[in-house]
Amino acid sequence: MTSFELRQKFLDFFKKRGHKIVGSSSLVPDDESVLLTTAGMQQFTPELSGKIKSHYSRVCSVQKCFRTPDIEEVGDDTHHTFFEMLGNWSFGDYFKEEAVKWALEFLLNECKLDKEKLYITVFKGKNEIPKDKESIKIWQDNGIPNKRIFEFGMEDNFWGPAGEIGPCGPCSEIHYDKGRKFSKGKCSIKGCGPNCDCGRFVEIWNLVFMEYHKKIQNPKYKYILLPQKNVDTGIGFERLVAILQQKSSSYETDLFLPLIESIEKSSSTNHKLQTTNYRIIADHIRGSVFLIADGVLPSNVDRGYILRRILRRAIRHAKLLNLSKNWYADLIKEIISIYGIVYPEIKTKETDIITVIQDESEKFSKALAKGLKEFKTQAIKFKIIPGNIVFNLYQSYGFPLEMTKELAEEKGLKVDEKGFEKELKKHQEISRAGVKKKFGGGGEISPQLHTATHLLHQALRDVLGSNVKQMGSDINSERLRFDFSHSEKMTSEQMKKVEEIVNQKIKQNLIIIEKEMPLDEAIKSGALSFFKEKYPEIVKVYSIQDFSKEICAGPHVKKTGELGVFKIIKEQSSGAGIRRIKAVLSKKTSKTKF
Ligand code: SER
Repeated sequence: MTSFELRQKFLDFFKKRGHKIVGSSSLVPDDESVLLTTAGMQQFTPELSGKIKSHYSRVCSVQKCFRTPDIEEVGDDTHHTFFEMLGNWSFGDYFKEEAVKWALEFLLNECKLDKEKLYITVFKGKNEIPKDKESIKIWQDNGIPNKRIFEFGMEDNFWGPAGEIGPCGPCSEIHYDKGRKFSKGKCSIKGCGPNCDCGRFVEIWNLVFMEYHKKIQNPKYKYILLPQKNVDTGIGFERLVAILQQKSSSYETDLFLPLIESIEKSSSTNHKLQTTNYRIIADHIRGSVFLIADGVLPSNVDRGYILRRILRRAIRHAKLLNLSKNWYADLIKEIISIYGIVYPEIKTKETDIITVIQDESEKFSKALAKGLKEFKTQAIKFKIIPGNIVFNLYQSYGFPLEMTKELAEEKGLKVDEKGFEKELKKHQEISRAGVKKKFGGGGEISPQLHTATHLLHQALRDVLGSNVKQMGSDINSERLRFDFSHSEKMTSEQMKKVEEIVNQKIKQNLIIIEKEMPLDEAIKSGALSFFKEKYPEIVKVYSIQDFSKEICAGPHVKKTGELGVFKIIKEQSSGAGIRRIKAVLSKKTSKTKF
């Protein structure tokens, strides 16, 4: 079965069972407390929590996801940064019986898997959350013998929440036994079985019975029952494709083979010896394409830094293989030809994607050569490379920590990670103090323009969508300048609409409320935040009634009525995927030239 057919089969199967097919949400989630979309359920958090009554009580989707904890494992048979998740959900509708029955029906009747090879794990209970006896019985009633049902604890069989708090619950996982010959390493579980590390078993489907909400109850957490019982399921798409195409690795399936072949064509070295390098490049460029299409740009913070790290790692591996100059252009084309029908956004953003990757590649290639020289002369002298040297590679040559770790490992050396973190912190404190000094008195910043910037930001999000994120801001005594992620030139209607919204909010004379709170709390409250790690632990949150909420050092006016008339003077490009707006405030139309 092709990967394309599998996606379609899954959606058709659940559509027939009353599910509404919902498109994948962006990799950049609406919830500002989570950096990237890591699971299919994220876009349904309000429905799962019971906060929103959905028009549909059954939905299914194929979701773009991105996870970073296993970034260093990428290159083996199963790990990826970007991946797809097939999922079906019930918001207070069906529960365990149907979820189990349909999962088995799909795997046995549609995917034609052998029932004997399916193994099940269930939650064994912990504290206030009891053992999931109900699921055990349902699996048994559906013909899974007790000897293939295994009990595990919180770590393996309790899922969520996606962030720190939110909907969660015990889960039941379906594992597939690939056979003894796939047992490559030492068994981590006595007698082998699901969750063993040896490579024989692979988890394919997670059925979460979401009936709890994890809340903060100082000083700890508490699980309370949700008003409704939900189902949240997720299939690791790449893994199931590998099983159905009878491949030992997802890198050998139709999702990756053309990518590997494209890299191979750009290379003059022997393919067989370079499997790991090829896989890292294919995975990281695939991930980068999807991140850029969703508005992420390389930077030194947050999701921008995740993108930078994977791009730079791919660039280093491309250098190791001595790939031809524009190796990424053909690879990107191949990715778009495989995924463009399912995710048209990567097709529409093709030019942006190539420009961003080209920029980063040009920027980093020079630094990489110099940094490698530095590594050879400085770092290599030590068994454990000291923090200040690792920091220097990071600061002066843009080497992400894991790249230095990878280089060190190749030479049989280690890295003093704690020492690096210490250096990094020291440096951040110095630059924060510098920022404070510059804006300390508030004299350089016009409070009116500062408040107008918040109004503009929210108005842009209202008009252009929540993919708009602040990329930079500069205010002088005459005008504001605001850079934001958006790939197309704004139309004159869009600019007019933005001006209207801002001026309407000024007219309403809304009160600006300033509140100090811990950073976590501010983010959880939905306040927009930027350059997260440069914030102190306690931050100021400025709310303009319920229209806008941002973490900001200020200063701001007390009421929006103090602003005058807002006017956009210029809208232009400010780099790939970034637009820049210059705007002024005046009693009448400004004649200021910029
Ligand atoms: N949320 C669960 C997971 O990510 C099921 O989709 O595994």
